Amino acid sequence: MSKSYSDAIEKIKARANIVDVIGSLVTLKRAGNTYKACCPFHNEKTPSFVVWEQSQQYVCFGCGEKGDLIKFVQKYYNITFPEAVERLATQYGITIEDSYGEENAKKDGYYELNRQAARFFYDAFTTKANPGFSYMKKRGIEPKTLQAFGIGYADDQWQSLTEFMKSKGAEESMLAELSLLSEKNGRYYDRFRGRVMFPIFNTRDKVIGFGGRIIGDGEPKYLNSSESLIFRKGYNLYGLNITKGYIQKDNLAIVVEGYMDVVSLYQSGVCNVVASLGTALTLDQAKLLKRYCSQVVLCYDADNAGINAALRGIDVLRQAGLDVKVLHVDDGKDPDEYIKRHGRDEFLALVRNKAVADVDYKISLLRRKYDLNSTTEGIRFLQAAASVLRELRPVEQDLYIRKVASDYRISEGSLRREVEGGKSPTPQTENKVSARQTQDEAPSEESIAPSSLMMERTLIRLCLLNSDYFRKLSDYPEAFVSRSGRRVASAMEALLKPSADFDISDLRDVLEEEPYRYLEDILENVVPGENDGAMFAECKEKLDSARRRTRIADIQKILELGESEGQEYDMTSLMRELMDLQKQEKK
Ligand code: CTP
Ligand code: MN
Repeated sequence: MSKSYSDAIEKIKARANIVDVIGSLVTLKRAGNTYKACCPFHNEKTPSFVVWEQSQQYVCFGCGEKGDLIKFVQKYYNITFPEAVERLATQYGITIEDSYGEENAKKDGYYELNRQAARFFYDAFTTKANPGFSYMKKRGIEPKTLQAFGIGYADDQWQSLTEFMKSKGAEESMLAELSLLSEKNGRYYDRFRGRVMFPIFNTRDKVIGFGGRIIGDGEPKYLNSSESLIFRKGYNLYGLNITKGYIQKDNLAIVVEGYMDVVSLYQSGVCNVVASLGTALTLDQAKLLKRYCSQVVLCYDADNAGINAALRGIDVLRQAGLDVKVLHVDDGKDPDEYIKRHGRDEFLALVRNKAVADVDYKISLLRRKYDLNSTTEGIRFLQAAASVLRELRPVEQDLYIRKVASDYRISEGSLRREVEGGKSPTPQTENKVSARQTQDEAPSEESIAPSSLMMERTLIRLCLLNSDYFRKLSDYPEAFVSRSGRRVASAMEALLKPSADFDISDLRDVLEEEPYRYLEDILENVVPGENDGAMFAECKEKLDSARRRTRIADIQKILELGESEGQEYDMTSLMRELMDLQKQEKK
């Protein structure tokens, strides 16, 4: 974004208050620290749209829409981001220098040059016989498909494109910036020669770059446009301009490595496909995909490079909130070869039956590295698997701990302990202060075991459904481990009435933004279940067991020291207590 734009945004944020901006468009009601309204972005009768003055943010807990005031204006009037900035700038008497428009005009110039070049390659490909066309035909790509992707041919002369573009009045230096031409000693010449040309489009159908495949064997196999003002590889995906509708319809994108994979799958009727432009998938590419779908199948070559690319891809796609599976085709080097041999239906059957969920994929790769007959290697595998599971969200983690333990016949308990960092949660039973009043001293979220966080959420959920559960927890301050969790618990304590359940809106009104969001997040899945009682009992047993383990460790320490300086302790009763605790733990 240009400097003048970010200046304007800064000024808008300094002058405008989100409460005024939104308040002038929808009726806001003050509620504690927040303002509430019925969400303007979806239909609802009870308000779940919340505005925070302090952080200048809004969230709708009904439809998930959230952002700052510019985003609100953008959404509300259904306009682009720059339009929203302009609108607010006008409203608040802020002028924007016009360099944004200038930059756009410059980009348009480059798009136009690329478009003309693509046209030139396409004409060379389609109007007379040429090696490029024969090569693609030999590879089984039909004219209709070639046309859909705008595939062209760059001949093996040095000046074909240069001459053509000059005759159109184009500047050679600009073409060189687009890496269509190269320059030597002040002379420009065609950079792509003797290649099949794959134009790369962005999702607005502008030609942003090219990939050129050599005809037959030779190096480099593919020559690609370098990055330019209009071509940033990490922000685009090959084929998406054509396939996005299919991806959206299927809610699934098949991500492949190569141009030819995309073209070939598409031709065979597997149309929800894109390629990552020869680089490792980036987070921006993942977010781009997330606009169209929530599931991805990574279908990379089965070689080491493909496996490593899949492993990296999993992480960024997950980070963007996508569900990821991995599929390596078992016959043929890549999806292109596979689908040519086996056709669409068999390929789709592979996607359905052989694509492996990301976590399973990672762990099955680990499994291959270790010999589980050896104890040391078994332990290494356990540790490696645990480090994969540690990355997961709590609910998923719990699920996978069970699954991995049963799939690989390892002890669920040891795996769980390993995932939790080899440590059991250790509440300081001896000198505990009421944790509910000290949320400021809560440990940082990262240092809390995921299973403790998961339990906290479960308990808060149960307490919201039935305040009796909260009463039963009054002696277990350690049940609430996160900063937000402790804050929610202390608010509950303050609002607890003798014989009534919690009033959620009272709770909302007293909570600050962070715990408020935490609560809303938990509320999303508050439905009473028949297992609630059992679940509560299980949590409580875990809390008790954690206490016992701490006490056991303490007693063991005292007994160790006891030989010399344990005089003040009654050793016999400690021993008895220890044995008692150990027996309970084994149960
Ligand atoms: N690639 C590249 N430069 C290379 C080789 C590969 O940019 N020198 C990128 C291209 O985007 C290519 C992808 O990586 O499509 C996958 O490479 P590879 O598997 O080698 O090629 P294929 O897609 O299988 O191409 P083909 O089927 O034409 O051999
Ligand atoms: Mn190939």
